[in-house]
Amino acid sequence: MARILCIDDEPIIRMSTRDYLMDMGHEVFEAASGAEGIALFRRQRPDIVFSDLRMPGGDGFLVVAHMAEEAPETPVVIISGTGSLDEAVKTLRLGAWDYLTKPLHDMDLLGQTVQRMLTKASERRDANQYLLSLESRTYTLERELHDWINGHQDTVLRLEAALKTSISSLNLALREKDPYTAGHNERVASIAVDIGNAMGLGDKAQDTLMLAGRLHDIGKIGVPQNILNKRSFLNPDEIVQIRSHVTGGYRILGEIPFEGPVAEAVLQHHERYDGTGYPDGLAGESILLEARILAVADVYEALCSDRPYRAGLGQNDAADYIFKNAGKHFCPQCVDAFKLVISRSKA
Ligand SMILES: [Fe+2]
Repeated sequence: MARILCIDDEPIIRMSTRDYLMDMGHEVFEAASGAEGIALFRRQRPDIVFSDLRMPGGDGFLVVAHMAEEAPETPVVIISGTGSLDEAVKTLRLGAWDYLTKPLHDMDLLGQTVQRMLTKASERRDANQYLLSLESRTYTLERELHDWINGHQDTVLRLEAALKTSISSLNLALREKDPYTAGHNERVASIAVDIGNAMGLGDKAQDTLMLAGRLHDIGKIGVPQNILNKRSFLNPDEIVQIRSHVTGGYRILGEIPFEGPVAEAVLQHHERYDGTGYPDGLAGESILLEARILAVADVYEALCSDRPYRAGLGQNDAADYIFKNAGKHFCPQCVDAFKLVISRSKA
């Protein structure tokens, strides 16, 4: 049995929906406008919200936007009479969990949607709990490591390995949240190591590049999914949230005693050689070499990949972009090494 809020300005539709859902054993609350529905939601905290789209006194867009902000864990299903594709896409982007068109000729569709939403909400709760437990485990391991760090080198090494395992688990959690970012991290790591190799860097620096490449976007775990996957332009507040992934990644990794500057490279991977990057606007060689290498690998891999808002460039066009921006976005020495990597890959 679920507690369901039905928002619709047409009494006849509310009544038929209510009767059907009550026959199925659910408890139903009714509201005649978006504003009334939001107020009722706050009092009753139902499990699911069904909302009409076009209503006086606060429409379905208002309901969806409000719910995404106040109770993103509660499924909101839009039932619209217009059946417009643009409207459906807009509501889903705002945070609606599903979109149905009315009149509902087959009321069983409503019953099936209730079951589907309950299952989906439960899966999301489980995933969030899993993520929280991983974060707490990482935090605990970090604290243990600090306790042991003086005079317990063997233990330090063992705990460092455990931390790396824990971070792999965080990466797995990130894959659940944003499959593109997790795959992107692996590919960036591989390209960064190739560039480091072409520059003649030693094993330790290459290890740092591998770890920093794998973890460079781990901070996106703290960025809302709807912003990560947004297909339209980001507003200024969303840009700030996306950019916070570098400081978020640094916070996650900063306490771990990696042999090399992994956390610092993660923090600086969006700095630009000409000083126009973030978070600190560092320029030239004040940016860590590992971060300058990551910047080349990161942008090249991103340009090659298809994203929700654009198709990927071909490898040649992506490489040309890197070459043209040597001395501006990218470190010239790193671009020279990148050219070597590209020419080797074509040989
Ligand atoms: Fe990034």
